[in-house]
Amino acid sequence: MAMNEEWLDPAAVKSRLEKDLQELTDKGNAYDKKQWQAMNYSLMAGGKRIRPVLTVWTGLSLGADADELFPFAEALEMIHTYSLIHDDLPAMDNDDYRRGRLTNHKVFGEAAAILAGDGLLTYAFEVCGQAMEEAAAGGQTELLKRQARAVSFLAQMAGPSGMVSGQMVDLESEGRTIGLDELTYMEISKTSRLLEAALVMGGCLAGAGPEQIQSLEEAGEKLGLAFQIQDDILDVTGDEKELGKPTGSDEKEKKSTFVSLYGLEKARKEAVKDTEEALARLAFLEGSYGRAVRDLVKSLVDRRK
Ligand code: FPP
Ligand code: MG
Repeated sequence: MAMNEEWLDPAAVKSRLEKDLQELTDKGNAYDKKQWQAMNYSLMAGGKRIRPVLTVWTGLSLGADADELFPFAEALEMIHTYSLIHDDLPAMDNDDYRRGRLTNHKVFGEAAAILAGDGLLTYAFEVCGQAMEEAAAGGQTELLKRQARAVSFLAQMAGPSGMVSGQMVDLESEGRTIGLDELTYMEISKTSRLLEAALVMGGCLAGAGPEQIQSLEEAGEKLGLAFQIQDDILDVTGDEKELGKPTGSDEKEKKSTFVSLYGLEKARKEAVKDTEEALARLAFLEGSYGRAVRDLVKSLVDRRK
């Protein structure tokens, strides 16, 4: 069977994703327009779309159908975007710039930014729910089971046992030095969990078995660590224009990071090691989409933004 290579170009995935996200938030009535505008503002702010691309490519490599992958990839990007809006709020990191533009609360005000985040988080599950209703209505019980696994995993990774827990630890770590164990827990929760969701949802929707799902989970965890270490490195060595946000913020806020604990050189080595471990766990992904997933993972450790 010749593989459908339509989605091998990341620009093709991004373009479908962004078209769908645009349509999904091109809504509102005379009274609540601002809410939809605020949601749309951050969703369409030019993120790299790493997580949805990983979901689509992983799923395709394991034999899933593109149309069945996109709603879940979109839900994940909504959850990621909500987390950034809330992370930038005055009560959290109080940042003015993200992705090269003013942060959501700077444009729409704090209360509207809180609601834009709430809206995106909830809407993500509405989108998954709709896809599941369609599968149920079409009598596609096998697909419905796969979707149930995917959505349950997504909620787990995003919620109080996942990303939210990491953010709590981050807040609790303010103003004190934390050790490597706590830092690692925090970063795995804040950053790895959604990357695990990206890979694992692709696997679930393709009907992958428990061993494959386990490999995808482990790969996501390692990838997140490598990604976060590189983030910490870029906060020291990066270019503000390229990054779209100020550098030197960790040092200014006296935050413990992989760079402050390891030093630059060891941090770099750890990022390379974590990337290699992620790649080893992704080796089973077949075909050109499998290769595309691994190439993307490799490129993240050298990223400049
Ligand atoms: C950058 O992603 C973002 C991260 C590495 C994750 C940071 C985690 C948080 C801020 C957790 C917040 C959690 C709550 C509950 C508020 P990216 O480089 O892919 O960003 P992009 O989409 O802008 O490219
Ligand atoms: Mg933060």
